[in-house]
Amino acid sequence: KKRIGILTSGGDCPGLNAVIRAVVSHATLTYEWEVLGIPYATQGLLERKSEILNVHGLELHGLDPLLSMGGTILGSINKGDTEARAEEAIAGYRELGLDALIAIGGEGSLAILYKLAQKGGWKLVGVPKTIDNDVPFTERSVGFDSAVNTITDALYRLSFTAASHDRVMVVEVMGRDVGHLALHAGIAGGADVILIPEIPYSIAGVCRHIDNLRNQWGRKFAIVVVAEGAKTPDGESRVYTDAHGEVRLRGIGEYITDQIARCSGNHVETRVTVLGHVQRGGTPSALDRLMATAFGKAAVDLVAREQFGQMVAWQNGQVVSVPLEDVFHNSPRPVKPDDFLVQTARGLGVYIGEVAEV
Ligand code: F6P
Repeated sequence: KKRIGILTSGGDCPGLNAVIRAVVSHATLTYEWEVLGIPYATQGLLERKSEILNVHGLELHGLDPLLSMGGTILGSINKGDTEARAEEAIAGYRELGLDALIAIGGEGSLAILYKLAQKGGWKLVGVPKTIDNDVPFTERSVGFDSAVNTITDALYRLSFTAASHDRVMVVEVMGRDVGHLALHAGIAGGADVILIPEIPYSIAGVCRHIDNLRNQWGRKFAIVVVAEGAKTPDGESRVYTDAHGEVRLRGIGEYITDQIARCSGNHVETRVTVLGHVQRGGTPSALDRLMATAFGKAAVDLVAREQFGQMVAWQNGQVVSVPLEDVFHNSPRPVKPDDFLVQTARGLGVYIGEVAEV
């Protein structure tokens, strides 16, 4: 009887529990394997901790709720001290008696686990998750669609208060290095301006656009979506000293808000909303539940076929598998400046940075 481990690594997101549910169900019901849940990612390996997850045991505690429950019942950590204690983590795999390991992670944590697997000869299969959607070779990662929905809903709500007060609302969304979230939710939520790390923009361009909306089209309010990873256009400093004398970095949303107020000569009222970890919580969307379930099932089948060192991926509406090696060498996946969604936004008059000279 095979014994496989499962862990969730990196930042949580909606849909992780749905993957766990699918893996446990398929592995125990179809293959009659034992599934060990490893708590807090590699921390569980370091501490040699695990719990048997069986479909009936989970049912007692409510198997079905796992499909719709946010977060991860296994707990997660970002990095911890895994890299410093690589040998111990590697040995944890053997000491727990694992025949294979299914790891649900983003580009950062999958890279760490891939390196450990290479070193320790682990039989690893990856499942991509991240609200940032920056794992290469998969069009979608678990959690992304739910976060897009949460942001879209926030933009809908903010547009009413923006319109009532003729304000410019700047909304800073997550996306540490990339702008997929800002781009998708910005379009779905009808934003007027979308600023992402991949496309250069200017404050003058943003202000001109807002000015046109007001003076040419009579639209007195505007919604600006900015990815947290976007930089200031000309490398201006966002560093400031707070009331306690601490040197801090102002968020990009706050910076943009201030710049818009300034360029209007303070005639335009501006407000900033930083959505933060709200974007990571809540129930997974139907698409995330579906994808998580298909990914979990496919990951177990990869183990059955002994296809290790692979990650399940979503391509053209199908689940395929790609080598983790390729994922590792191509992370993170940026928004391409000629992406059809960038063109869609521009076609609808959204300011999304400067158009590259051709
Ligand atoms: O990678 C997912 C993500 O939510 C990023 O968008 C964000 O920058 C980061 O994680 C936040 O990490 P933490 O939960 O450690 O604050």
